[in-house]
Amino acid sequence: MQRPIRIALTKGRLEKDTVGMFEQLGLDCTAVREKGRKLILPIGDGSIEVVLAKANDVITYVEHGVCDLGVVGKDTILEMQGKFYELLDLGFGRCKFALAVKKGTDFYSGYGVKTIASKYPNVTRKFFEAKGMDVDIVKIEGSVELAPLLELSDGIVDIVETGTTLKENGLEVFEDVCPISARLIANTVSMKLRQQELEALISKIESYFSTQDAN
Ligand code: PRP
Repeated sequence: MQRPIRIALTKGRLEKDTVGMFEQLGLDCTAVREKGRKLILPIGDGSIEVVLAKANDVITYVEHGVCDLGVVGKDTILEMQGKFYELLDLGFGRCKFALAVKKGTDFYSGYGVKTIASKYPNVTRKFFEAKGMDVDIVKIEGSVELAPLLELSDGIVDIVETGTTLKENGLEVFEDVCPISARLIANTVSMKLRQQELEALISKIESYFSTQDAN
């Protein structure tokens, strides 16, 4: 017998909305809601398993085919890239990438090469490459807002959702980079080998979103 369809789900910010979506589709998610420290959980009638993982790892598991589908932010997709299908914009987890600086700073003034801190060096590099601008990029693991405050960088490229973190730290958006939302991704081989099952689930998700759009 084949293993259940496995969906890698990004733990944390996207988790609640993804579980909410599955419940709206009529899939029982009690096991996920009462998960404790368990990381692989059955949903619905057990023919689907949810794997809870960090965003980067969602992509790794889907790329390697140990998970058939994944729910992950466009931010992680843009940073990691990789070989998988990006099937749907799920509409939740909306935020944006932005270039932010200390309040009142004109980022483009002066001639020296600017330093940018980011958790997303690839996104940052592409953004400035498109402008034909040479920048030094410093990779930071979290709370990137610290870098300009500590004078490590002239700006940051980071996720902005409500804008509260920037505001409370005396920073502001200087320029938007691109919008972000949660995406449904799929392993390329699974889409061939388990086409029927996956397409049935994907079209269920798609029709859920078309009803949402209509409201
Ligand atoms: C993200 C991001 C910002 C913050 C933005 O960080 O890197 O710091 O959220 O959200 P806001 O605009 O609603 O304030 P996260 O909370 O994921 O933590 P991290 O910086 O430690 O990675």
